[in-house]
Amino acid sequence: MTKILKNNYNNSNSSPVQLSSPHLLAIEGMAKLEIKRLLDRADYFANLDRHDDTKNLSGYVILNVFFENSTRTRVSFELASRRLGAEVINISVTNSSIKKGESLLDTASTLNAMKPDVLIVRHPHSGAPSLFADYLDCSIINAGDGRHEHPTQALLDALTIRRRIGYLEGLKISICGDIANSRVARSNIHLLTIMGAEVRCIAPPTLMPNNLEKLGVKCYFDMREGIKDADVVMLLRLQNERMSGTETPSQREYFKYFGLDEEKLSLANKNAVIMHPGPMNRGVEIASALADDSERSLIKTQVEMGVAIRMATIEALNFTKQNNIEK
Ligand code: CP
Repeated sequence: MTKILKNNYNNSNSSPVQLSSPHLLAIEGMAKLEIKRLLDRADYFANLDRHDDTKNLSGYVILNVFFENSTRTRVSFELASRRLGAEVINISVTNSSIKKGESLLDTASTLNAMKPDVLIVRHPHSGAPSLFADYLDCSIINAGDGRHEHPTQALLDALTIRRRIGYLEGLKISICGDIANSRVARSNIHLLTIMGAEVRCIAPPTLMPNNLEKLGVKCYFDMREGIKDADVVMLLRLQNERMSGTETPSQREYFKYFGLDEEKLSLANKNAVIMHPGPMNRGVEIASALADDSERSLIKTQVEMGVAIRMATIEALNFTKQNNIEK
């Protein structure tokens, strides 16, 4: 059984991180050391706890462009930008000229003409942030694209686990729910396997992608088996907006087999922690009392760590770009 340590991690880094790319489009392909350095830097920002914020991005312009709804990601990117001293402009698709029929490439070229330093983009289509990266001069951060990736979510999840348990390597982490439609699952699978964790995916057959084992995870169709001795239980939202309607039985039946309740949690490590990227459906993916369990649920810490991770990421991309230009 993995020993769970509490708040014992202290490996923060007080210098900006140099990355191998001027963009953050995916966790897939990132080096273990890059991830570790970003986590260390975010740890430093988290320890500041809003005091003595680093305003070293004064004069920088950051565009937050969201083609899909968001609460946590959009607000935390905005807060992160402001704490770094940058100017941030939020563009919501409902108020943009996309509604008048402007193409994605024309929108990209229009935004590029305003010379932002970083563009943060969420889009329903996988690959949209990568397209922006091809056409724009600024750094692009993927804030979630279709079923592809949500890299800053995986980074903040890793930071949350590391600050609570102390390490990632060797942990048994069970990700349960709508794996097929989840960019959070994909980014977490990549990051956690890179960092040496044992990742298990639990889902009904209709929500489990084919060939997932190729990514180095174990797949389970029975939650009781997949959760056994787990150190971390990560629940995922049922993404009804990406389903055809036949993938799940009733919500009550889904909760019976794949929702986290006390009885299923009792099969995990006795100190296992609970995570959910949000937004969550209480009583569907997770029993309400477990979501609010202040000892075991890390859901609010995940939101808090989102700001620190996004500060580290924005700062790193600017640092990387500056260093490349000077070379
Ligand atoms: N976890 C997450 O991406 O939440 P939002 O959709 O609220 O940004």
